[in-house]
Amino acid sequence: MPTGWSNPEQVTEYLSREIPYRDVAEGMLLDALPQQIEGFIDLGTGDGRLIALVRERHPSAAAIGIDFSAPMLERAAQRFADDPLVELLDHDLTKPLAEQTPVDVVVSALAIHHLEHERKRSLFSEIHSLLVPGGVFANLDLVASATPQEHERFRHAIGRPQDDPADRLAGLCEQLDWLKDAGFQTVDCRFKWMELALIVAMKR
Ligand SMILES: C[S@@+](CC[C@H](N)C(=O)[O-])C[C@H]1O[C@@H](n2cnc3c(N)ncnc32)[C@H](O)[C@@H]1O
Repeated sequence: MPTGWSNPEQVTEYLSREIPYRDVAEGMLLDALPQQIEGFIDLGTGDGRLIALVRERHPSAAAIGIDFSAPMLERAAQRFADDPLVELLDHDLTKPLAEQTPVDVVVSALAIHHLEHERKRSLFSEIHSLLVPGGVFANLDLVASATPQEHERFRHAIGRPQDDPADRLAGLCEQLDWLKDAGFQTVDCRFKWMELALIVAMKR
């Protein structure tokens, strides 16, 4: 029986879930991106939801979606079957990103919180290296609550009976510090509702 994100049932359950304020936060993520985008990468792309949103606003932008889940990549492949500007890569984000031509933007949604903290930090450095000068990293993700009680409130608010054992939540402020340590010039939290936060970092 496949587990985690290789389990089609987990994928179907996730894709049917409503997350409060997600649309608002995604809109703010789009607003944080540069006006001109030639190429971007989506880390933990899932079924390609965020790629589709970015490309609605930037139809000529070429996208690379990275994920390690076969059922998610299948959904994304169906979504972009007729779109030559979208490339999907099967890659485990616990491993270093492959070197490639720098891009204008790296986005991610609800994926990086699955990585151990040390890997988050090294990934932030790799993202910094992958961006052109002035490039933007926009990450809509879950961050740790200040107290266990606040965490419980968030879990109830999003209708989850139990914690996901794969979650490795880090605090918002420490992640902003890690991004600065990775070399980003400006880092900011543009949106926050409980544990859902939009972090935007710009390369000098
Ligand atoms: C909660 S889903 C989010 C999907 C999509 N970004 C969205 O906004 O709907 C998390 C995604 O991260 C992917 N993911 C988690 N850990 C990963 C890893 N180590 N390497 C690659 N992808 C990973 C999962 O397969 C899944 O598609």
